[in-house]
Amino acid sequence: MELIRTIAEAHDLVEKIRLSGRLIGLVPTMGALHRGHLMLVDEIRDHVDVIIMSIFVNPLQFGPNEDFERYPRTLDSDVELAESVGVDYIFCPDVSEMYARNMKTRVVVSDLPDHLCGLSRPGHFDGVTTVVSKLFNILKPHVAIFGQKDVQQAIIIQKMVKDLSIDVKVLTLPIVREVDGLAMSSRNSYLSETDRLEAVKLFQSLNFAKQMIVTGEHDLSLIINAIKNFITTGNSAEIDYISLVDTETLEELTELKEGSSVLIAIAVKFGKTRLIDNLTVKIPVFEHVE
Ligand code: PAF
Repeated sequence: MELIRTIAEAHDLVEKIRLSGRLIGLVPTMGALHRGHLMLVDEIRDHVDVIIMSIFVNPLQFGPNEDFERYPRTLDSDVELAESVGVDYIFCPDVSEMYARNMKTRVVVSDLPDHLCGLSRPGHFDGVTTVVSKLFNILKPHVAIFGQKDVQQAIIIQKMVKDLSIDVKVLTLPIVREVDGLAMSSRNSYLSETDRLEAVKLFQSLNFAKQMIVTGEHDLSLIINAIKNFITTGNSAEIDYISLVDTETLEELTELKEGSSVLIAIAVKFGKTRLIDNLTVKIPVFEHVE
């Protein structure tokens, strides 16, 4: 496996691969790899001939008071892990290589960032779409894959690809979880022992809400309150949002329509660590007796 550090090297490499008629798969990451990332590699393998993983902690997608500085950077162990699952190349540029000093351009998808994480992380998704379009331009993948834990990110990237007619197929992978249900995330490593135990309530609360919905509960505020109480009882967890939204537009639902689907998305802070999780639930159709 080879490490590629510059855009020029990457351009040469992808030109050679493309000329040889092989398909390129891209797994974009910020490193600190966990099993979820390795599953992305597993999933893309059947679709392509060459797998490139990018490892780049993208400053553009962090707010001024967020964790850019302390975000885990574990390149040596990432390289080993990536190699063990058959990644062919790692693209790991420096910030100065990716962003010229006076870079003036941003790629911005409208509306979709105005919900969920976008509300508490202004500018975050502009940073994501800007770096992902750069990665697409530099590495020219035929296929790219993103995890569903960052469901809003996946939806925004799919929209960007469609709107800008970018010639890349975007795959998504269902959330990969720890045995107790906690969604895998590089930020889980920040959790204290107590918070790690409490964090399992995220997935449990989503399942609790799902149970309410499939057994006929339609009252949105009741469901939201139930999730809130479930998560916050007995600890210092701080809710950022609990939202039941449209699975495509991400707009807050005002009612639960039988036969449609709802995306339940949550973001919660345990100490300084903000975690997200989500679950899509199909709302059953009930027989209504007159
Ligand atoms: O999901 C991530 O790890 C990042 O947002 C991504 C897609 C690699 C862009 O920096």
